Amino acid sequence: MALTRRKALALIGGGTIVAAGTFLGTRTPYAAIAPWDAAGGYDDPRKWALSYALLAPNAHNIQPWLVGLEGDDTVTLWRDKTRELPETDPFHRQLVVSLGCFLEQMKIAAAQQGKEVSFDIYPDGEDGPAAVATFANGGTPDPLFNAILDRRSCKEPFEDRPVPPELAESLGSYATIVTDQAEVAAIKDLTWQAWLAELAYPPTHKESVDLMRFGKAEINANPDGIDLGGPFLESLMLVGVLNREQQLDRESTGFQQGVAIYEEMLHATPAYAVLTSPTNTRADQIMAGRQWLRLNLATTQAGLSLHPVSQALQEYPQMAEHYAAAHELLAKDGETVQLLGRLGYGPQIPRTPRWPLETRLI
Ligand SMILES: Cc1cc2nc3c(=O)[nH]c(=O)nc-3n(C[C@H](O)[C@H](O)[C@H](O)COP(=O)(O)O)c2cc1C
Repeated sequence: MALTRRKALALIGGGTIVAAGTFLGTRTPYAAIAPWDAAGGYDDPRKWALSYALLAPNAHNIQPWLVGLEGDDTVTLWRDKTRELPETDPFHRQLVVSLGCFLEQMKIAAAQQGKEVSFDIYPDGEDGPAAVATFANGGTPDPLFNAILDRRSCKEPFEDRPVPPELAESLGSYATIVTDQAEVAAIKDLTWQAWLAELAYPPTHKESVDLMRFGKAEINANPDGIDLGGPFLESLMLVGVLNREQQLDRESTGFQQGVAIYEEMLHATPAYAVLTSPTNTRADQIMAGRQWLRLNLATTQAGLSLHPVSQALQEYPQMAEHYAAAHELLAKDGETVQLLGRLGYGPQIPRTPRWPLETRLI
């Protein structure tokens, strides 16, 4: 949850924060974000590429990847079946899309080292690995590589500033970019209603709350999920307005503030990016993830922010009405909307936590 400084100061008063200043100055969860600095610190070109791959965007930052290294040129990628989202992603579609993001980032990084990576996707069907990747000499560096360390999913209100038509057009080679204001208004309403539907259904809401990490110690212990850290959010925890109990209590100030902040954020959106696929096979989902990753690196290089908003694309009965509306609005007959994201000018936000590469190797 992205609580803004302005809102929370109004909520708790500035004096408390000043009093806690020394303590709050030490709240950055350095261990959890260390993998961003470790990227590129390996001799084996596969590990070198993997150390960038694990910085890829992924649903709920659950990091659903496990990797095997075989021989001296092969990487086998498995979906980690202990890291799932049974309520919001019952068919693991978003998790497989996330693996697609991982694979594309690995490929881009490998090319930087002069390695060409080829993929065999789900070579043994659904029960086998998601991909077997072969590294060979010959990759050509990809300009998108330079955006990897700056890329974010920006969960903040965007400026009231349109995406320039020439930028929208150039990003059109990665995804459908929606800037028409009537369409933008319809998508805004859809994303907000779908977000409320996820919140209203206790199992899906609780799945998110269970994934929240409150403060430095929890984030460092579990560098995944929804990290609520840094001096500012920890100041809210200190005064008791941000904690797990409040997030589960619909009557609490903390819960209601969170809803207000999300409403403001989702509405502060000048444009959207949409990725659809003709069918909805595992290969389609991997491909969508690969395309999204490229889009997110390209938006980073263009100075734009991108933020996936997936609630209306989730496949459980309580979301069916919004899922149908999303497909009516965003896809042609029979297509699947794989990703929908807010697009605009947002602030640069901190890096999100990652498990180190060594913990993801099998
Ligand atoms: C398939 C997919 C679905 C996502 N859906 C959402 C979403 O609904 N809401 C959201 O805030 N972020 C969403 N994200 C973004 C992740 O939360 C984000 O990638 C993760 O927290 C890591 O942060 P980073 O991308 O800034 O490195 C999604 C990402 C992917 C790949």
